[in-house]
Amino acid sequence: MHNRLRARIFTFVTGLALLGLITGCAVKDAPDGGAAPTAAVSATDLPAGDDCFVWSEDDLLLSDFLLYFVDCGSPDAAEFPTGMFAGLCQSVSDMPYGTDPGTGKVWGYRENPAMQRDADSLGKGATAYKWVIDDSVTDLSKAEICYDFRVPDGTYTVTLGFYNPFGVRRIDAECEGTVLVDSEKILRYQENEKSFSVDVTDGELNLKVFNSKIKNFMDTPILSYIRIAITPEYTKELLSAAVKAMAVEHPEAIYTAGSSKNYLEAYAEAQEFLAKDGKAGENLIRLKFNNLRESYKMLTKQYRYDSFKPGAVWRDTENTPIQAHGGQVQQMEIPDPETGKPVTKWVWVGEDKTNGYRGGVCAYSSDDLYNWKFEGIIMKNVPNRRVLETDPYFKEVYAGYSSEELDNVALALSAERAVIERPKLIYNEKTDKYILWFHADGPTATSDSNYAAACAGVAVSDTPFGPYRFVGRYRLNTCPPDQEDKYPESKGMARDMNLFRDTDGTAYIIYSSEENLTLYISKLNDEYTYLATDPEKAVYGVDFIRLFPGAQREAPALFLRDGKYYLMTSGCTGWAPNQARFYVSDSVMGEWESKGDPCLDDENHTTFESQSTCIFRDPASDTWIYMGDRWFADALHDSRYIWLPIEFKENGDMEISFVSEWQLP
Ligand code: DGJ
Repeated sequence: MHNRLRARIFTFVTGLALLGLITGCAVKDAPDGGAAPTAAVSATDLPAGDDCFVWSEDDLLLSDFLLYFVDCGSPDAAEFPTGMFAGLCQSVSDMPYGTDPGTGKVWGYRENPAMQRDADSLGKGATAYKWVIDDSVTDLSKAEICYDFRVPDGTYTVTLGFYNPFGVRRIDAECEGTVLVDSEKILRYQENEKSFSVDVTDGELNLKVFNSKIKNFMDTPILSYIRIAITPEYTKELLSAAVKAMAVEHPEAIYTAGSSKNYLEAYAEAQEFLAKDGKAGENLIRLKFNNLRESYKMLTKQYRYDSFKPGAVWRDTENTPIQAHGGQVQQMEIPDPETGKPVTKWVWVGEDKTNGYRGGVCAYSSDDLYNWKFEGIIMKNVPNRRVLETDPYFKEVYAGYSSEELDNVALALSAERAVIERPKLIYNEKTDKYILWFHADGPTATSDSNYAAACAGVAVSDTPFGPYRFVGRYRLNTCPPDQEDKYPESKGMARDMNLFRDTDGTAYIIYSSEENLTLYISKLNDEYTYLATDPEKAVYGVDFIRLFPGAQREAPALFLRDGKYYLMTSGCTGWAPNQARFYVSDSVMGEWESKGDPCLDDENHTTFESQSTCIFRDPASDTWIYMGDRWFADALHDSRYIWLPIEFKENGDMEISFVSEWQLP
């Protein structure tokens, strides 16, 4: 306590009627909280300051009643570190005792030549800096760190933070004549934080950090940060003020769905609680208050994009990086989840690589192609055979499956062994079903290779976003006897794949076969759930064709533009990118002509370090978009998306140039 300050005992004139909260003013008649005249100050050696403490309810509530948050030992008068919230009395992160340049309030450390600033590269936020005591100090009684803060009288929560990179040290702290820390050990590299309740009755909070058992310079005190917050009285009125101050209309329009949901729940609970008659205990009110306050603080802005940035991390509207690798984007009429009425949405399906190589299939929806809402894992992989009969999700999806069928599901979708790649979605108007095809691979009874099964998998759902129920995985058509099979050892293989629906509604699966040496296009049945004709009866040229035998192409993407069919492909080099090649034909089952690499100025011939997966048109802007994957073999979950606009020359040939950022016209 500073006796000389007793001369300036605060006179309360503007008690902001915040429900027992204290506000005070050193000088009479300054109700607006503006700079107070200093004429009433008698002690001339005291720093002149704005001793009028008046805040709005909102300011107090939305600042967590925090008056000071000192980043101790940071450069004097430095700007407040981003991400940290300065107290209401503060405009700089630390300063010697005096008048704050921004707020006019009086606070700061007591200058002491023994104190030394210490920047700590291991500390973060408020622990990046701290005060230490200079090693060369011989008079150990000077080894103390003192701060004073002018505040209105009242009760405060004082928090001290110590981040200790040295050996274990003992710390004492005193405040307003009370021992806060009594020679406690501060462990190395741990964020030690101590909080106390302190009463101030003389207009200034005085704090001292030292070591009562100091023996040598290795025992000197440290101090990383100080927080001083008013301790409010938790009353129904306070909660009611919080409900008003923290009201947000339609949070889900701006904030992530998850954080909005938590907030809306806490808000409704607080309202419900207030609507109840009768007295309520302070603890219960504090709980409701803190729930509301925390959920309000956790409201997280949705990422909003208005451009494509090929290769950058792309986040969904929940701010989570999009997991839709080897994917496909298409515009679909889908039922609105609330009204059931059809709405036009972009739908993106792709591999979930959150956990690396093996995962299920995710879906996202969008209105503008830039911003994507996560619609869930639409086909889950299966942790083990047992869950198919015990887990509520799997039980429901696979209700009615025989034990043998469940065995097949467990094998084909095994989270431990199966490989689920390049999922593609197609809607069947006749059956009103959504059908998901994918490259279904994994070991077999005779081979441990991840790519031994070499099958095309099919899963079906009544709704676009699933859950999809696995139907089967199949080997497909085989090389006719009168043609040269490039891999006769294993018949009907199907790996990298895509789908294409022609204008007459006929759908095709395009896939790498014959150990990836030859591409095939096979016609699907009317339901799009299997081949149009069984492989044994399939007629070459009618039910399927083989393309570019021995050319080793994969990652096919087929599309139709101005009456011409285009087929984009990559070479086969695992996760490493290689040179693209595209082909053109007058019909799906026709003659495909090689057109070479469509990429311009692609110095390394790596398709701009990507591998094709889908090409589609945005009708609104008449833009054709190349969609590829930039795989990161060692961090597959972090693989990136390369979307680029396609130009078409007069002769119809396509050209793709790299642009680091672009917008739809
Ligand atoms: C290239 C394929 O296109 C990918 O889908 C994936 O199967 C990798 N090979 C695995 O190496």
